[in-house]
Amino acid sequence: MSPSAAPAVSLDPVLSSGTVPRHVAIIMDGNGRWAKQRMLPRLAGHKAGVDAVRRVTREARRLGIAALTLYAFSSENWRRPEQEVGDLMGLLRIFIRSDLQELVSENVRLRVIGDYRRFTPDLVAMIDDAVARTAANNGPILAIALNYGSHAELAAAARRAALRVGADGIDEAAIEAELDTHDLPPLDLLIRTSGEQRLSNFLLWQAAYAELLFVETLWPDFDAEALAAAVTAFGLRQRRYGGL
Ligand code: IPE
Ligand code: IPE
Ligand code: MG
Repeated sequence: MSPSAAPAVSLDPVLSSGTVPRHVAIIMDGNGRWAKQRMLPRLAGHKAGVDAVRRVTREARRLGIAALTLYAFSSENWRRPEQEVGDLMGLLRIFIRSDLQELVSENVRLRVIGDYRRFTPDLVAMIDDAVARTAANNGPILAIALNYGSHAELAAAARRAALRVGADGIDEAAIEAELDTHDLPPLDLLIRTSGEQRLSNFLLWQAAYAELLFVETLWPDFDAEALAAAVTAFGLRQRRYGGL
């Protein structure tokens, strides 16, 4: 580059001075519509969604995001046809088989939030094994929400807190300590793809002061650039937490 070239003002948030969120959560929505636009079965959309998961988790690591939480299966998703539920479970198995080694070697700590123990026993064992194999890592956290619903999480947290500190002892910290996310950093940025603007029972407590970002992109089209753009947008937000 010649000395007279324009100064390198990078749009890359890693290279510019913007604040990178510590904890990003994503409601990965729009797989079905992506498939429909292409006259493909919904399963093709979910498969393309897994590719997006791979791209986005890699980019999150590159950007230095400490924790990424992905909504993969909600407690309401059981309402879908049995075939689709089975397809989603099948893709989860495939993802663990194909991607666990990369997570282990990239020092990622895999976590699960949600009541995944309702899944079939062999899948539960597979998930437990995957989590255990990354437990000694100390790098970024990848939390997958499986059979997750905020209301159930909060009810369970309240039950455990009551046992631990008694009903009168339950305060915000006591609830917080029992949430599935208790050892994740505070949620900074919550993204939903596909143009829907609702939380669908995801991280309701944790989102109290998160920045919300709703994007039109369908999840299978969400890529490294889209995550980088979201992080840049986050860096431009002014968080006031009720103050001035
Ligand atoms: C998100 O895509 C994936 C899951 C909920 C598992 P959808 O399957 O909800 O896609 P749309 O909303 O029908 O397009
Ligand atoms: C939310 O998406 C759940 C996940 C992304 C896993 P849905 O597509 O299930 O949400 P609704 O039904 O449109 O609210
Ligand atoms: Mg949807």
